[in-house]
Amino acid sequence: MGSQKPLLEVSGVTLQYKTPNLLVTATYRVDFNVLEGDRFILLGPSGCGKSTLQKAVGGYITPTEGEMRLKGQVIRAPGPDRMMVFQEFDQLLPWKTVRQNVAFALTAARKLKGKEADERAMHYIEKVNLTKFADTYPHMLSGGMKQRVAIARGMAMEPDILLMDEPFAALDALTRRKMQDELLQLWADTRFTVLFVTHSIAEAIKIGNRILLLSPHPGRVKAELNSTTDPKDAALLEQRIQHMLFADEAKEIIDA
Ligand SMILES: Nc1ncnc2c1ncn2[C@@H]1O[C@H](COP(=O)(O)OP(=O)(O)O)[C@@H](O)[C@H]1O
Ligand SMILES: [Mg+2]
Repeated sequence: MGSQKPLLEVSGVTLQYKTPNLLVTATYRVDFNVLEGDRFILLGPSGCGKSTLQKAVGGYITPTEGEMRLKGQVIRAPGPDRMMVFQEFDQLLPWKTVRQNVAFALTAARKLKGKEADERAMHYIEKVNLTKFADTYPHMLSGGMKQRVAIARGMAMEPDILLMDEPFAALDALTRRKMQDELLQLWADTRFTVLFVTHSIAEAIKIGNRILLLSPHPGRVKAELNSTTDPKDAALLEQRIQHMLFADEAKEIIDA
């Protein structure tokens, strides 16, 4: 496994927002590699540039410094090889049913047509346990169900990498835990590659196999950690991460 070529290579990436009278540096010279099959986590406090990094992988923002490569090709624009799942519940088209929402992404990207798109859609709808709701409109679904549709839609495209930005953050605690379990089950079933953004340490440890810890604004790489499924090790890892994040906060207070 050690010689495996990374699927996604992020090298020295600085990301900035330029407004007429302001230059915001969101991340500074960030490096990381995602391997095929990774559940790779971007973890850090609010405002450290996690979403910005993910949007750059999505091809929506161009680095001012450094580069990102997917399968060796520099990322320059969005593409169906990278599908995003967001936190918001309103990412589905309200006038389309569940299966139409999932199939629409496939036909819009000209991946599949009519019947084939519908079959592929139903396959992934089944994977997220929504077969019974395939002909339902989004407004009839709970928040967790809507997120499952968004996941099915992303997965149906069979992208090289699935980009998830705090997809469960707006859910209640119980549903959130259930969704985390379901995502892990789905991964065990299909072994996709996911780049998952969260500010929750517990979620990072639970979902990820590798965790990139970012420092507060502007985001720099603070540490790269391997996660663990052993509860005792997980508790230790959580403490260690909390300690590292607290050290940053303490420094900010002292500097200020
Ligand atoms: N469209 C934008 N214009 C200007 N600054 C932005 C914009 N989006 C985000 N930022 C700034 O970039 C930094 C990183 O934001 P973001 O990537 O959303 O962080 P995170 O997802 O880790 O909370 C923050 O300081 C934020 O205020
Ligand atoms: Mg964010």
